Amino acid sequence: MTEPRWDGLIVGAGLATLDGEAYGAIEDGAVAWSDGVLTFVGRRDELPGDAASLADEVIEARGWITPGLVDCHTHAVFAGDRAVEFEMRLGGASYEAIARAGGGILSTVRAVRAADEDALFEASRPRVEALMRDGVTTLEIKSGYGLDFENERKMLRVARRFDGDGLTVRTTYLAAHALPPEYAGRADEYIDAAIDWLPRLHAEGLVDAVDAFCEGIGFSPSQTRRLFECARALGLPVKLHADQLSDLGGASIAAEFGGLSADHVEHTSEAGVAAMAAAGTVAVLLPGAFHVLRETRLPPLELFRKHGVPMAVATDCNPGTSPLLSLRQAMQLACTHFRLTPEDALRGATTHAARALGLADRGVLRVGQRADLTLWRVRHPAELCYWLGGDLLDASWVAGRRRS
Ligand code: NIG
Ligand code: FE
Repeated sequence: MTEPRWDGLIVGAGLATLDGEAYGAIEDGAVAWSDGVLTFVGRRDELPGDAASLADEVIEARGWITPGLVDCHTHAVFAGDRAVEFEMRLGGASYEAIARAGGGILSTVRAVRAADEDALFEASRPRVEALMRDGVTTLEIKSGYGLDFENERKMLRVARRFDGDGLTVRTTYLAAHALPPEYAGRADEYIDAAIDWLPRLHAEGLVDAVDAFCEGIGFSPSQTRRLFECARALGLPVKLHADQLSDLGGASIAAEFGGLSADHVEHTSEAGVAAMAAAGTVAVLLPGAFHVLRETRLPPLELFRKHGVPMAVATDCNPGTSPLLSLRQAMQLACTHFRLTPEDALRGATTHAARALGLADRGVLRVGQRADLTLWRVRHPAELCYWLGGDLLDASWVAGRRRS
């Protein structure tokens, strides 16, 4: 019998496998992989006696290992910033009023349109690197600040450029984010255009999912449905900015299309929650936007629990409502504002976030899953949600390759 060969083996750290209750915790653990896939997850004393000689590299570690973090909702590709709007909001202006006056999303659209592809990449890189430095190994990035064919394409191409050895990037087409000025008063025609661009961008391999902003200052339920029909015809999954500022039934629309997720969901009704449960749609909580907008309306957390809707946690990294560069900080905010337990927040940023992206190969530590691992300098996994900021990451491996 040929002996198994392992490319890598880490011993000594605790494992928050998230496979089972109480973090699926294993103290003094061992995790091994071959060809980027986990081949052993268990206690060190369960390893075969000759384990050290089976592995090309053996790493003695301290601290805790979790699955690599998955940030399942970001707008990390953009140019410029909106610090002035932050000041205006603190002075009393609302997010909606600023948007209606031509600021908000449209202000970032102007900055993105003015930047060429390389400049947009360089402007976005520090944000992507910051997210990676705090443990993210899989990152969703949306378009939605281009709002015409060439600029949506530019954003998606930049997002794809971040995909590589050290990071998986999933791209989401969000042309239905705001109405560009050249379509003022013609939202239906703009949706026609967005529907026209989608298959062309998909043919270039730039689109993994389709999203929309279904809201009074965004697009209506019927416009959202028309776009989603097109996604369905192309076999693309959908997700939705749903019920953030008001209840337009967005969660139910996401569910109607078998959506991967409904995101924000502060105003979602019980009917919406039940529809999500029936469709297997994940609720993506975005406590950064809740925090920055100083919202008071909590998402229906008890209803999500009652109906068994998994809750993911993401940064929503964007220049307007959530200039948040750490998924761990988003987990902290989810605990503080939404009373998630640290364990729920960790599952939200791994297991459930992976599901919100349709990725079944990651988000728990289990044999057969991708070897996306993060090693943290902590004594207990709850510390990941306890510290506000800080530098807890010791090292990460992406498909078994050490990144830092
Ligand atoms: O998720 N709600 C719409 N989209 C973003 C905000 C984008 C922006 O303000 O630039 C969000 O909060
Ligand atoms: Fe968003």
